[in-house]
Amino acid sequence: MFRLPVLALTALACSLGAIASSSLSVEYHPVTISGGGFITGFLAHPTQKDLIYARTDIGGTYRWNAKAWTWEPITDFVLNNPLSGNGTNLLGTESIALDPTDPKRLYLAQGMYAVWDPWAAFFASDDQGKTFKQYRSPVPMGANDMGRNGGERLVVNPHSPNELWFGSRTEGLWRSVDRAATWSNITSFPDAYGNGIGLISVIFDPNNNGTAYVGACVPGGLYVTHDGGVSWAQIDGQPTTWSDWTNSIVSGTGTATQSTGPQPIKVALNNNKLYITYADAPGPWGVLYGEVHSYDVSSKTWADITPSRKGANTTPAPSGSTTTVPGGWNGITFGNNGTVVVSTLDANAADSVYLSRDGGNSWKDLGQLATPTGAGGTSHTLWQTRMRDRTLVPWLSFADPGKGILGFGWWIAAVLIDPFNQDRLLYGTGATIWATDTLSRADADQSPSWYINSEGMEEAAVWVLKSPPSGPANLFSGMYDLGGFRHDDLTVPQPMYNWPTYSSTDGLDFAGKVPNVLARVGRNDNWATDSVYGCAWGAVTTDAGDHWNLFPTCPPVVNSTAVPGNGGTVAVGADGKTFVWSPYDYNNVLGTGPYASSDGGKTWTVPTGLTFQTTGLAADRVKANVFYAYAQGNFYVSVDGGLTYSQTGSGLPTGWTWSGTPIASYLRAGELWVSVTGVGIYHSTDFGATFTALPNSASSLQPSVFGIGAPKTASGAETLFFWGIPAASKPEGLYMSTDNGASWLRVNDDQHQYGGPVSLSGDPRVFGRVYFGMNGRGIMYAQVTNVPKNKHRRRH
Ligand SMILES: *[C@@H]1O[C@H](CO)[C@@H](O)[C@H](O)[C@H]1NC(C)=O
Ligand SMILES: *[C@@H]1O[C@H](CO)[C@@H](O)[C@H](O)[C@H]1NC(C)=O
Ligand SMILES: *[C@@H]1O[C@H](CO)[C@@H](O)[C@H](O)[C@H]1NC(C)=O
Ligand SMILES: *[C@@H]1O[C@H](CO)[C@@H](O)[C@H](O)[C@H]1NC(C)=O
Ligand SMILES: *[C@@H]1O[C@H](CO)[C@@H](O)[C@H](O)[C@H]1NC(C)=O
Repeated sequence: MFRLPVLALTALACSLGAIASSSLSVEYHPVTISGGGFITGFLAHPTQKDLIYARTDIGGTYRWNAKAWTWEPITDFVLNNPLSGNGTNLLGTESIALDPTDPKRLYLAQGMYAVWDPWAAFFASDDQGKTFKQYRSPVPMGANDMGRNGGERLVVNPHSPNELWFGSRTEGLWRSVDRAATWSNITSFPDAYGNGIGLISVIFDPNNNGTAYVGACVPGGLYVTHDGGVSWAQIDGQPTTWSDWTNSIVSGTGTATQSTGPQPIKVALNNNKLYITYADAPGPWGVLYGEVHSYDVSSKTWADITPSRKGANTTPAPSGSTTTVPGGWNGITFGNNGTVVVSTLDANAADSVYLSRDGGNSWKDLGQLATPTGAGGTSHTLWQTRMRDRTLVPWLSFADPGKGILGFGWWIAAVLIDPFNQDRLLYGTGATIWATDTLSRADADQSPSWYINSEGMEEAAVWVLKSPPSGPANLFSGMYDLGGFRHDDLTVPQPMYNWPTYSSTDGLDFAGKVPNVLARVGRNDNWATDSVYGCAWGAVTTDAGDHWNLFPTCPPVVNSTAVPGNGGTVAVGADGKTFVWSPYDYNNVLGTGPYASSDGGKTWTVPTGLTFQTTGLAADRVKANVFYAYAQGNFYVSVDGGLTYSQTGSGLPTGWTWSGTPIASYLRAGELWVSVTGVGIYHSTDFGATFTALPNSASSLQPSVFGIGAPKTASGAETLFFWGIPAASKPEGLYMSTDNGASWLRVNDDQHQYGGPVSLSGDPRVFGRVYFGMNGRGIMYAQVTNVPKNKHRRRH
């Protein structure tokens, strides 16, 4: 299918080097949201100050840079590469291992989905993650699967530091003796992992060579070996049934536990004492009950140290209610001299972090201490949602129940007392990182002061990016979980779109000639309450997003009896008066094409000439009432505001397998491009009547990763950007063309791949700028700062 023009072949022969080391100067910047996803674990090196790593479920691993006060991504080299499979799946970190004997060494277990994608890998570094060796893993991993909140599955044997163990989800316990290069199955390990969560926490005893502990996420799942894994025993006396206290809560709530006994979530060892957090489900959600126990490995005695058990919580207003389901327990970190911190798991409104100074006999509830008087649950005040330099993270208010507060946390798996600063505690949530430098205030029943510490961490899943030619912001985004943003300032976190709030903004568009008119469509979880005001899943603004109004009605496929799984795609006519909405109806239940409205959404009309929904939908940016659709390998154009379509597009590949999204020129009516995934980019200047393949075939990896931006010279061609493979044998990457595809320059390099974007847009106002959004690594932009005048002067 890949027809490579002769021209490109000759160019390739003499410029292979130029592709690898791009002659462009490029700066990479995040579009700052800061956080946005689940931080699943922290690890601090015991001997080197400030050497701290954070793992995330879908955005890779970060290393803390204390001097710059920012988290630095260290896995951005991960490819997209859907062809070989070695790609995006490797951007989820299942576990991190540090070598306590050598702070330079770092190991990552990478793999996002254990079932969907067989690609998993171990990354091994000798320079704290500046560079890695990559080894394919013999077992699958699931950094975004259930149980990702657990302890570390990957560990270095401190007595033989070239040896690592890995507790897998489905294939038992594995050992490498060559620093993660090759692995063998420790088949002597008992089969205790039949539930797909597997061996959730593995630790070596630093004081006893040959002793290691493994927590399988099943009742009674705590195992020990004293002979380096030759033989194993279930630890005697471990809790295998729920405590009397838990049973008394169960009878108070009337809701049964989900497992017959406590299931290990995280196992940790401090001064010859094991601490184990337990829950009745792996988490991070769906948990009802849990306990915390300790085990003195010298005296072989167990203790129930659950912070919420009766009498254990010594904060001024003890919790320990017996009428609400309390949730489970998750994170563990240690300080000096008996200091232990644990976190709750899925305690919903009252998720919290508990501090003990006596090895777990008594506890202070840090969430309770932080909670303003009169606020329910455990919470921070909204004014606290600031970074250390007082920069506000305004979107965190999305969790505000309307009282100026937000939950103390949810999905608190990652907790860390800085080993070099006993007053510093970090905890991660499903959305951000909180930190304090005044932990010991809790000893006097005062709240430590908290701030946001997610600088540099970008974790959103971004479906749509649009850059209007004028208006208050160069960028609007639509994303999962956070809904999306108008990015007035790319360096500072912005407020989310205000009402309506979507759990996912799936489609977003502006009007080419009046860009302050925008529409957005997406999944609104508040269907019942919001649909009183109109269509809960579609909204429109005329002031660039300061205020949004719901469309008065929904198209028929979006309705209270059958809300589709996805808001689909929306296109706004150039004059801002016509909207075309293609909601998710991929099974074509209704048998209609994209709905059109020219009365602001009061009525939606079923078109003729196009009889199915498509994400390949766009408006002409200059001429009103002109809409383009590329659907199931056919091209359609409407010149009457989406009421009737005719099939045109001669020169485009046809066949239902092809997908692509039309992108219309900001400058010229009737000019557009369609990047046909896996085939090439096609250009039309006659409203889509005819297309020509751009001379150097270029092929994007997904329909939505092609975009256009400001031309190099005022009268010149708009700059084309795409993520893909411009010609066979050229590497996958981000490419741009300033001569309408006659030649392509690679913008990114091998260190800046981000697992590949799923959304992309040029900037019509700034030459050489391209925004791209990842499924888990937020939004980045690349700014090209110099472009060689022509090939012959290019310096390599
Ligand atoms: C993935 O592919 C890249 C590029 O070919 C290679 O450098 C890397 O080692 C591969 N990783 C794995 C785990 O196979
Ligand atoms: C730990 O035990 C292993 C296996 O017996 C041995 O090879 C290693 O040298 C020991 N390490 C130390 C620090 O004693
Ligand atoms: C590894 O060993 C375990 C026994 O501990 C066994 O159940 C599992 O099937 C083995 N997996 C592979 C891939 O060898
Ligand atoms: C350590 O803790 C013990 C008991 O919890 C206490 O008696 C002792 O004073 C503490 N030591 C320091 C240095 O804080
Ligand atoms: C609601 O949408 C479904 C398809 O998603 C459709 O079958 C049904 O007819 C619609 N109901 C109404 C009342 O329009």
